[in-house]
Amino acid sequence: MVNKAKKKPNWIHKDLLGLEYLSKEDIDLLLDTADSFREILDRSIKKVPALRGKTVVNLFYEPSTRTRVSFEIAAKRLSADVINIATETSSVKKGETLNDTGKNIEALKADIIVVRHNCSGAAAMLARHVNISVVNAGDGWHEHPTQGLLDIFTLKKKLGRIEGLNVSIVGDIAHSRVARSNIWGLTKLGASVTVCAPDILIPPGIEDMGVKTTDNIDEALSKADAVNVLRMQFERDEKGAFPQQIEYFKKFGITAERLQPAKKDIVIMHPGPVNRGIEISTEVADGLNSVILEQVTNGIAVRMAVLYWLSQAREKNKL
Ligand code: CP
Repeated sequence: MVNKAKKKPNWIHKDLLGLEYLSKEDIDLLLDTADSFREILDRSIKKVPALRGKTVVNLFYEPSTRTRVSFEIAAKRLSADVINIATETSSVKKGETLNDTGKNIEALKADIIVVRHNCSGAAAMLARHVNISVVNAGDGWHEHPTQGLLDIFTLKKKLGRIEGLNVSIVGDIAHSRVARSNIWGLTKLGASVTVCAPDILIPPGIEDMGVKTTDNIDEALSKADAVNVLRMQFERDEKGAFPQQIEYFKKFGITAERLQPAKKDIVIMHPGPVNRGIEISTEVADGLNSVILEQVTNGIAVRMAVLYWLSQAREKNKL
């Protein structure tokens, strides 16, 4: 007999380090929780007491607009206290290590550290050294799990499902933590994912993650229900091997003309920051199919869900 009972939510996670480490049930639970928090953002009084008495510390070693502000707003909407540490004006400048900084934040009785770092694996290393919860807000080229979750949440809101969708991710796949988190999350939920980039920006072996690859943008767009457009990270082009910006836009840029043969209701996503005229035209970025700013708003609900999920895990498991 098939057991139709819903699987019990998994509240055991101490940290959120990447979507690779979550089950389909974990991701569904986070998306459902985000859905219930989403309407709070449209109320006139946008606050609930779920994290009252808790402290969230944002520790960002790399620049950020969306993620840092979104975590701060999410924590405040849940009534948590929020401290932002700008590493430029902290003791990091005096040579303090990430682990020592984390241990001191723990000693200051914070409950959750949200960390962004330019090194892949930095969030996982910190999580091994502190007993409080760690959220990866983007580590090097590895993962950006809350961006992946908010992209998936936005897509599900728009199209009603993830299973069976064709999603193309176009741009600098090689250096993209957003691409990796999207791939883990989307494939676990049953979407079919294609990555599209110049050959040099498709990492070898990425097919092992269950995705198709192509360097033909028209092929990537032809069956897509959604396209997630990534920023070209030209600052990483130390060897001068990337295509020039004009050449890239000509061959891979998402323009209204290029979208002509695509599905009329194709969903256009971008994690930001957007480089207009390089990976996407202004007409498309601001057009009717674009959900770029919806992604930003939904990101607050998703991050509220993540903070709530981790604080519930701490209570239930007496961490
Ligand atoms: N999408 C994203 O991570 O943007 P920020 O770098 O501004 O946080």
